[in-house]
Amino acid sequence: MIQPRYALDLAARCALRGRGRVEPNPMVGCVIARDGVVIGIGHHRRFGGLHAEREALADCARRGLDPRGGTAFVTLEPCNGHGKQPPCVEALIAAGIARVVYAAPDPSANKGGGAKALRDAGIEVERTGVSSLASGLSAPFAKRLTTGLPWMIAKWAQTIDGRIATRSGESKWISNDRSRARVHRLRGCVDAILSGLGTIIADDPLLTARCPFPRRTPIRVIADTDLAVPLRANVLTTARETPTIIACDKELASSAITSDRRSALAERGATVIGVPAAAGGRGVDLHALLSMLASDFGVSTVLTETGPGLLGALFDADLIDEAVVYVAPLMLGDELAKSVAVGRLAESLSAARRYELWRVKALGSDVELTYRRAHSTAPGGDA
Ligand SMILES: NC(=O)c1ccc[n+]([C@@H]2O[C@H](COP(=O)([O-])OP(=O)(O)OC[C@H]3O[C@@H](n4cnc5c(N)ncnc54)[C@H](OP(=O)(O)O)[C@@H]3O)[C@@H](O)[C@H]2O)c1
Repeated sequence: MIQPRYALDLAARCALRGRGRVEPNPMVGCVIARDGVVIGIGHHRRFGGLHAEREALADCARRGLDPRGGTAFVTLEPCNGHGKQPPCVEALIAAGIARVVYAAPDPSANKGGGAKALRDAGIEVERTGVSSLASGLSAPFAKRLTTGLPWMIAKWAQTIDGRIATRSGESKWISNDRSRARVHRLRGCVDAILSGLGTIIADDPLLTARCPFPRRTPIRVIADTDLAVPLRANVLTTARETPTIIACDKELASSAITSDRRSALAERGATVIGVPAAAGGRGVDLHALLSMLASDFGVSTVLTETGPGLLGALFDADLIDEAVVYVAPLMLGDELAKSVAVGRLAESLSAARRYELWRVKALGSDVELTYRRAHSTAPGGDA
């Protein structure tokens, strides 16, 4: 007997191979087991391509193994509607699958109802939250469908004592080569990278995916209220090769006062967008900015690599869905060294914002910790 947790973890790890290729579709993995043995495995490989269930069934066929009477373990409820591919429910029924175990419900209005359709066809169906990896895998997809906002990942490198730069702002390099290589791969899987003006001035980063075969070319987005980004900044001198958006105050984006500045930015290839001012505070309204990135630029995933000013505001607005933290074996022990986020989110432990530990990976002397906002990975249960 294959344990659901083992099978769903396996399906989820397989699905993660599609990261950066399938979005805005969800990453989905499927494992087919019969008589206590895995006989087929598959994942959604690219946007518009075969769904995981059909990939897994094809895998059984390639091995000459019959899935009839077997169990399909799927990270997402099998779809029940026509999109770029026919419904997976039909394929599972036709293949004679006897039981389907899935980790997360399908939130799409036109394709949901897969569990019911399978039950109606006499298949035993169970939803389970035993694999947190599988349950959270399609959260970015669900978020986009239900809120229209992109999935927001915050990445930072910190010392053991939680500092992201020295008191003078030095942060190159806290993490090791392996961690930085992982970050480049992560950049190559997202649609946009968001940074604040403070980081552009302090570090002058390129914010490009410098890794073999990046899957996407992320748009660089700089939160710069007053269009003050230095014209010699790396993000501007390379804006012809890598798309770059400067998100400034809405008034300034069309004001005569900034017209020379906007022309200089346009000459370098950057796009200026005007964003409403943040309510009651300094800077641009970050919720509005993310909404614009989704609706006007087709952005479904954003990675933010920024300093405590912007990160604090993003946490304050509860816009961070996932935090990827690189912890390096360094100790600053300086109360004036920069902390991860400025602000005062919670003054008691009971009021602290909750995140769940989603993945842990050792990278030589560093550790990569991935956290998900607690509500983003709603625990499953029998549905
Ligand atoms: N270790 C790491 O992983 C890491 C990563 C990145 C940065 N860092 C370090 O972080 C430091 C820079 O941090 P920082 O706090 O000065 O800069 P930041 O967070 O990168 O940028 C802050 C700036 O963003 C602009 N902004 C626009 N809208 C905003 C909003 N709604 N809320 C907040 N800010 C908004 C503001 O400038 P305007 O008001 O002018 O628009 C603000 O000053 C550097 O020392 C850098 O090395 C470390």
